[in-house]
Amino acid sequence: MADFSTRDPLQAAFWDERFAAGFTPWEARGVPPAFGRWLDSTGAAAGTRVLIPGCGAAYEVAALAARGFDVLAIDYSAAAIARARDALGPAFSGHLLQADFFDFEAAPFDWIYERAFLAALPPQRWAAWGQRCAQLLRPAGSVTGFFFVDESAAEPRRGPPFAVTSVELHRLLDDAFDPRHELVSATRAELTQLAAIDVDPAVPDVGTAAQLLQRVMRSSSPASQP
Ligand SMILES: C[S@@+](CC[C@H](N)C(=O)[O-])C[C@H]1O[C@@H](n2cnc3c(N)ncnc32)[C@H](O)[C@@H]1O
Repeated sequence: MADFSTRDPLQAAFWDERFAAGFTPWEARGVPPAFGRWLDSTGAAAGTRVLIPGCGAAYEVAALAARGFDVLAIDYSAAAIARARDALGPAFSGHLLQADFFDFEAAPFDWIYERAFLAALPPQRWAAWGQRCAQLLRPAGSVTGFFFVDESAAEPRRGPPFAVTSVELHRLLDDAFDPRHELVSATRAELTQLAAIDVDPAVPDVGTAAQLLQRVMRSSSPASQP
């Protein structure tokens, strides 16, 4: 492995250095097949607004745009955005933005899709991640993605990638999402079922006991609203 000078994954420079060196072992090098299958099954309308935070090479942008979705992929690393431009080609530049997930302005989204973004954040940022997801979504918006779940993750967590347990992941979203809605809608049950659909064999192994799972949770109203 290259000898990197940046060690703090909270800094964009950490990711810039790795993208610049071509050290991106997390890349799926294409749209994860499980995500493509899930997209085919959703029947979501054209115009659905989708945010991809921490997008890296952002392969999913092309798949979402092909379905007529209004997709915005953001990354605070300039080198990551350059990588996405290379991977996607100039036709998709308008879908890419260099921005910090925790500090950018946008109209609300219907979905947040992520892959290996929560895993890029040290655990002290996880609560803020859950709150920010809720803030960025429309009522009944959803979070779906591939999360680095390891039920026996050791303390202290080391990373990236930082593993999360499924209990922790639920709690992160439960804290920010309105539980009253879940009680009346039964949506949670439907979507929790989806959570188990895939462990994608095409995704590179990122740890011995680790899996990348697709999970979908649905908010009612952002926690910031009355
Ligand atoms: C492990 S990579 C995953 C990239 C991509 N999602 C993928 O699956 O290949 C994590 C990405 O999150 C980005 N990132 C980390 N913190 C961020 C933040 N606060 N705002 C925007 N991007 C961030 C990094 O620059 C990096 O590109």
